[in-house]
Amino acid sequence: MMTRTYKRLLIALSFIICHSSFSEAQRIYLDESKPLEQRIDDALSRMTLDEKIAVIHAQSKFSSPGVKRLGFPDLWTDDGPHGVRPDVLWDEWEQAGQTNDSCVAFPALTCLAATWNPAMARLYGESLGEEALYRNKSVMLGPGVNIYRTPLGGRNFEYMGEDPWLASRMVVPYVKGLQSKGVAACVKHYALNNDEEYRHQVNVIISDRALHEIYLPAFKAAVQEAGAWSIMGAYNLYKDQHNCHNDIMLNRILKQDWGFDGVVISDWGGCHDTDEAVRNGLDLEFGTWTDGLTMGKTNAYDSYYLADAYKQAILEGKYTTKELDEKVRRLLRLFYRTTMKKNKPYGFLCSDSHYEAALKIAQEGIVLLKNEKIKKSKNEKMAAPLLPIDVTKTQRILVVGENAIKMMTVGGGSSSLKVQREILPLDALQARIASLEYARGYVGDTIQSYNGVTVGRSLYETRSQEELTAEAVEKAREADVVIFIGGLNKSNHQDCEGHDRLSYDLPYAQNEVIEAILKVNPRLVYVNISGNGAALPWLDKVPAVVQAWFIGSEAGEAIASVLFGDVNPSGKLPFTWYASLDQCGAHALNAYPGVWREDHKVIDEEYKEGIFVGYRWTDKLSNSKLSNSQIHSPLFAFGHGLSYTTFKLGKMTADKNAMTEGDEITFTIPVTNTGSMAGAETVQLYISDLEASVERPVKELKAFQKVFLQPGETRQVSLTIGKQALSFYDETNGQWKAEPGAFEALAGTSSDKIVSRCSFNLQ
Ligand code: BGC
Repeated sequence: MMTRTYKRLLIALSFIICHSSFSEAQRIYLDESKPLEQRIDDALSRMTLDEKIAVIHAQSKFSSPGVKRLGFPDLWTDDGPHGVRPDVLWDEWEQAGQTNDSCVAFPALTCLAATWNPAMARLYGESLGEEALYRNKSVMLGPGVNIYRTPLGGRNFEYMGEDPWLASRMVVPYVKGLQSKGVAACVKHYALNNDEEYRHQVNVIISDRALHEIYLPAFKAAVQEAGAWSIMGAYNLYKDQHNCHNDIMLNRILKQDWGFDGVVISDWGGCHDTDEAVRNGLDLEFGTWTDGLTMGKTNAYDSYYLADAYKQAILEGKYTTKELDEKVRRLLRLFYRTTMKKNKPYGFLCSDSHYEAALKIAQEGIVLLKNEKIKKSKNEKMAAPLLPIDVTKTQRILVVGENAIKMMTVGGGSSSLKVQREILPLDALQARIASLEYARGYVGDTIQSYNGVTVGRSLYETRSQEELTAEAVEKAREADVVIFIGGLNKSNHQDCEGHDRLSYDLPYAQNEVIEAILKVNPRLVYVNISGNGAALPWLDKVPAVVQAWFIGSEAGEAIASVLFGDVNPSGKLPFTWYASLDQCGAHALNAYPGVWREDHKVIDEEYKEGIFVGYRWTDKLSNSKLSNSQIHSPLFAFGHGLSYTTFKLGKMTADKNAMTEGDEITFTIPVTNTGSMAGAETVQLYISDLEASVERPVKELKAFQKVFLQPGETRQVSLTIGKQALSFYDETNGQWKAEPGAFEALAGTSSDKIVSRCSFNLQ
């Protein structure tokens, strides 16, 4: 017989058990078996006004709060896009001085784009995601896909070039790779942040066609094809409204038309107004009262536009919680995708596989721009391409230039990193050839430390330019080959955030030193480190030119492996390399940097060249009635890049000669490696609309494929396009339109080397 007390105890116990399991059952927001949107609704219904306000603005330089009471952890963001930035102090830009935040630096995104290999972008995203996971970062502030409109653009190195199709194909696997690790991409800077000068005041004036055909497609692909979980609004204005709270950009295009279900994050300091932030689509405010780079108010988080001011306005009845709930829903969705995601993969920092990825991407992205035949020594009878350097025959090698000894993973603004290692070009070259000599040649930027990161090798120099030139010339006189490693760097007014370049010329005394060397030794290899093109006035006299970008931790190794032929270069330029600025539409039309309004608060920058950006502008000029003497070709065309082997593209065929609206058409072209070294060629397919009611570019890239071929091997490359590849953005109704009529497909190995054509019709 149970005693009465025991019975009571049992009843009480079962009540407690029932009650707690009842409330457990109610906790839908924690129930993984429930649909995501149901969990979001449940979480939202439990949040107080204060909790809701808290999750939509920052609490420190790079974090925003979760909902502690409900078990949602804080959300940590970090730059992005080339590696995981070192931690800064809670409320200061200074580095926190951690000892566990040295990362692997991956090549800058211009280099990634130059691989023309989406598999490299996937590898990039996955590797970066693992580094981010280890560091407990849930949002990586990148990748950047602003279009390369002017070669003066200070941040072009962080972007993927001038062509919307190329940038789209590369951004999708990057985002998917990153997010496959449970780390959100934050695709930036949406939109029209195409140069840095006056970035907070520039109001871009642009046609709808140019906006949709050139500047938005990579963002759209990131959202619709890759399912990006967050996007960063840009600093600049469009139609007089800042892009971080721009009704057309965010509410209409991004959220309504593209169906974006993620979080719009302001660029740091890009939010300027509570009402616009509430109504115009901003979801998460960061960095207010800073310009992103410099100091702002400290401990100002409650004074953010989406903090107390917003809460007060709700309490006073100015807003209902409709907009707030919509923002919080998006934040919760992000939490479930990242911080709350169970079964995330493990994170790894500085793993060998990440170094391998960084090296591979760098090697595939390096572009051999020029490689002419030259007699390799005074006694040599036969001329041969100067690269690759044959170590068995080349005894005396001289390296000249500051960029051979300069760390490039530091500087440049928010993408600056603290790396575990960065192999400098000189060190990698010397590791192969101990007797190799070095001459500084010129002094550029000698800053020894950037944002708390000390540059590994001293750049201190006391000699005059005359002495430096004399040393380089003297040493060059007897050299079998001279490797000049120069270009730009990450200091202010070079490849650096916050400002643009002041000139298209190479900085410092580089041109002068190169000319002086050429007088005593023509066997010069010029290795350019940059994210931008530059004028190369001595180009005709230099037999070999290599574009080596900012390529991260393995920079020196990647460069050495290409120069010595361990790796056959296969990169292709993701932008047109102009001879001079006036070859670029924006500059030819005097449409940069814009015109200040009278009050000097806003500078209007009209993109007068419209859709004719990069090769589209070059093609338009060559097709115009200008006489040949008025047209000067760029130094290197979009898509250009050589190899140590040779390739032959055969005749292209199509699987049909007429297509209907819902149809696709496939072009096939044989590619043969006709040389003696294994290598890769990228077949580029451009489409030309021959009968159109609006002006269309002469041709536009619509498909490409990189193929790796053994000597003598032939592969059939098939490229398929659909109606979208034939379409333009119809400004009369805001729809994409493919007009029936004649089209031509053009296949080639660069935008100026078209080798085969096929005509077809759209019915
Ligand atoms: C940059 C962003 C960056 C942010 C945080 C801003 O100045 O424009 O690209 O992600 O700072 O560092």
